[in-house]
Amino acid sequence: MAVIHISDSTKVPGSDVTLSGWIHRKRGSGGIIFVVLRDVTGLIQAAIKKDTVDEKSWNAATDAGVESSVEISGTVKEDKRSPTGFELGAKSFKTINASEPFPITEYQSTELLLDKRHLWLRSQRMIAAMKARSYVFRYAREFLDKRGFFEITPPIITKAGGETGANLFETDFFGSKAYLTESSQLYSEAMIFSLEKVYAFAPSFRAEQSRTTKHLAEYWHLEPEMAYYDNRKSMALQEMLVSHIASRLASNPAILKEFGVSADCLLKMKPPFKRISYEDALNLLNDKGFGLKWGDDFGVEHEKALTETEEKPMFIFNWPKEIKPFYMPINPKDERTVLCADLQAPYGHGEIIGGSERIWRLDELLERMKEVEKAKGIKFNMENYNWWIDLRRYGSVPHAGFGLGTERVIKWLLNLDHIRDAIPFPRMSNRLSP
Ligand code: 4AD
Ligand code: MG
Repeated sequence: MAVIHISDSTKVPGSDVTLSGWIHRKRGSGGIIFVVLRDVTGLIQAAIKKDTVDEKSWNAATDAGVESSVEISGTVKEDKRSPTGFELGAKSFKTINASEPFPITEYQSTELLLDKRHLWLRSQRMIAAMKARSYVFRYAREFLDKRGFFEITPPIITKAGGETGANLFETDFFGSKAYLTESSQLYSEAMIFSLEKVYAFAPSFRAEQSRTTKHLAEYWHLEPEMAYYDNRKSMALQEMLVSHIASRLASNPAILKEFGVSADCLLKMKPPFKRISYEDALNLLNDKGFGLKWGDDFGVEHEKALTETEEKPMFIFNWPKEIKPFYMPINPKDERTVLCADLQAPYGHGEIIGGSERIWRLDELLERMKEVEKAKGIKFNMENYNWWIDLRRYGSVPHAGFGLGTERVIKWLLNLDHIRDAIPFPRMSNRLSP
C-alpha cells in the first residue's frame, strides 16, 4: 500500500492507509499500545492491539522508543477520545530505524535544547517555527517577484564593510584579509543600473558581542534596492511588504496556534504605518523621562518605550547623520539629519528594517566621505570602495533601498521571546554549535 501523509489519511476516514513517520509519544498497558505518530503534516494516534496484529508487529511496537522511524498500516477513523481527533487502528507495524533513548525529555534547560538543536528541531514548537520561517521567505519573495524585482546573489566574502565596519568577521583569503559580508547593499546598488529593482536574500554577519534577545552573529538579510526611489516611496514599499508577509502568515492556523498568535492581530498590519521623525521620537522619550540628548542613538529600552503600546510597526525617519552610515544623503531641510528610516516592530520587538536613500552624485559622495573621515578620525580604504564609487561616474540615478532582518520579523510575528528560535542553527557570541 502506498504511503500517504497523516493529513491526507484523515480526509478518508474508514479507509485502509499506510503512514510513515516518527514516534512522537508512546504509552501502553497490557494488550494495547498507543503511539502518537508524527510526519511533516501533523500528528495522529495509532492503536496497536496485541489481538489484531501479528507477533512481529506487536514485538516491533513494543520495542520501538520515542523518535524511532516507523511505518504503520491500518484503518483510519474519527475518534473523539484521541488527542488528535483521529485514530489509526493498526493492522501492521514496522520499525525502519529504532531510536536510541531520546536525549530530550520534558522540561529541559535552554542550554541543553541548544546543544541538542539538531534533535530539538523535531519538536512541535520548532517544526511550527521552521515552517513559519520558510513561509516568510516565500511571502517576501512572492511580493517582490510580482512587482518586477529580480533576485540577485551577492558575494559573501568581501574586501570592504558597508555598515558599521567595526563588527566584521575577518577571514584569510589566500593570504589577504577578507571579511564576511555585513550587508549586500553595495552589490545590490551595482545591479540596479542593469536590472533597476533588485533584491539580495542572503546571510549577513555581525561580530556583535551584544547578548540581547534580538542579535544574531549570522542572520538572513533581505535587501531590496530600487532605482528612482526616494525615501518616501521606499517606506511605502516596506509597509506593503511587511503587511503582505503578516497577512499571508495569518492563513496558517496551526502555526498561529502553536505560538498563541491571533490571525486578527496579523491582519491588522495594514498600511499606512505611523511615521515619526527622530526628533519627535527623541521628544517622546524625554517626555517619558529618559533624558536623551539630540544625536543619541536609541537602545533596546528606548525602542521598547516607543513601541510597547503600538499595534502596528512604526517608522522613525531622518536620523542624525553622525549615527548613520556615510552613504546616506544629507537632508536638505535639516542638515543635521540624513534621508533614512528605520522600521520598528510593535510591542518592543525592535528594529526590523533599516533603509535610506543613497548618495548618487559623485562629488557629493566624495565630499561626504571626507567629512565622515574628519568627524570620526578614520580613513576609508579607497581601494575597497573605488568600484562602488565608480557607479556614480557612469549614468548614476537616484536610488534607495533597505535591509529587512528576517529573523527579527519572525520573532515579532510569532511573538518569540528570543530571536534564536527564528533560525534553525543560531550563531551567537556564545553559540557556534551544532
Ligand atoms: O540597519 P542595518 O545595519 O542596515 C543595513 O545593513 C543596510 N545596509 C541595509 C540596506 O539598506 N540594504 O541592518 C538592517 C536590518 C536591521 O533593521 C535588522 O532587522 C537586521 O538587519 N539586523 C539584525 N538581525 C539580527 N541580528 C543582528 N545582529 C542584526 N543586525 C541587523
Ligand atoms: Mg539599523
